[in-house]
Amino acid sequence: MRSRTRRLAGFVLAGAKDAGAEVDIIEIADLRITPCTACESCSLDGKCVFADDLSVAYDRMLDADGLVLASPVYVDSVSGQMKIFIDRLADAMHYQAFAGKYGCSVATTGVSGGDAVAGYLNHVLNYFGVTTVGGMSVALDDDAEALDRAEDAARELGRRLVRAIDERPQYPDQEAEMAENREYFAGIVRTNRDWRPDEYERWVRAGWIREE
Ligand SMILES: Cc1cc2nc3c(=O)[nH]c(=O)nc-3n(C[C@H](O)[C@H](O)[C@H](O)COP(=O)(O)O)c2cc1C
Repeated sequence: MRSRTRRLAGFVLAGAKDAGAEVDIIEIADLRITPCTACESCSLDGKCVFADDLSVAYDRMLDADGLVLASPVYVDSVSGQMKIFIDRLADAMHYQAFAGKYGCSVATTGVSGGDAVAGYLNHVLNYFGVTTVGGMSVALDDDAEALDRAEDAARELGRRLVRAIDERPQYPDQEAEMAENREYFAGIVRTNRDWRPDEYERWVRAGWIREE
C-alpha cells in the first residue's frame, strides 16, 4: 500500500517547489540503518562504526537549506524506523551539524497522536539547531478524503518553509531553547576538544564556545 505519510510530505514538498525550491525525498524505510548501540565511537571522530545507509541520508540533509520530517504515528509515537534514524544522528545533534537550517514536520495517524508526533519531530529539529516554521498532522480514520482536504495547508507549509529560508525569521522561544541546548552540547565539544579540534574551532567561530 502506498504510504499516506509520504503523500502528505509530498504536498509539503510540492508547495516548496512552487515557491522555487529544489526538492529531494529520502525514504528512511527503504534505507538499511542499524540502531545505535551507544558505543560512543562517534564522539571520538564523528564516524559511526556501522557502514550502512545513514551516510546517504546524512549527506543529503547537510546539503539542504530546509528539512521536512514526516512519520506515521505508531503506538502514540514516531515509527521505529524514524526513531532509529534520529538516534543515529545524535552526533550531528551534539555538534549542531544542521544548525541554521529551517524545517517543519508532518505526521499521519489512524485516529490520534498526530499533533504530538509532529510536535516531537519539530522538537527534534530544534535539537539539531533547525528553526521550525510549523507542523501539521492528518487523522485518516476511515476518511478517504482527509488527505485531500489537507493538501492546501500542507502546500502552504512548504511555501512557508521556503519563505523562511529566504527571509530567515527568528523566533525568540526557539532561539532561547536552542541556545540552552547548545550550552549543554558545548560541554561535549569541550570534552572532545583534543581529538576533535576542528569541531571545537568551528564552535568558537560560531560564537557557541568562548575560547579558554
Ligand atoms: C504499528 C502501527 C502502530 C500504529 N499505532 C497507531 C496509534 O497508536 N494511533 C493511531 O491513531 N494510529 C496508529 N496506527 C495507524 C497509522 O498511524 C496510520 O495508518 C498511518 O497514517 C499510516 O501511515 P502510512 O500510510 O504512511 O503507513 C498504527 C499503525 C501501525 C502499522
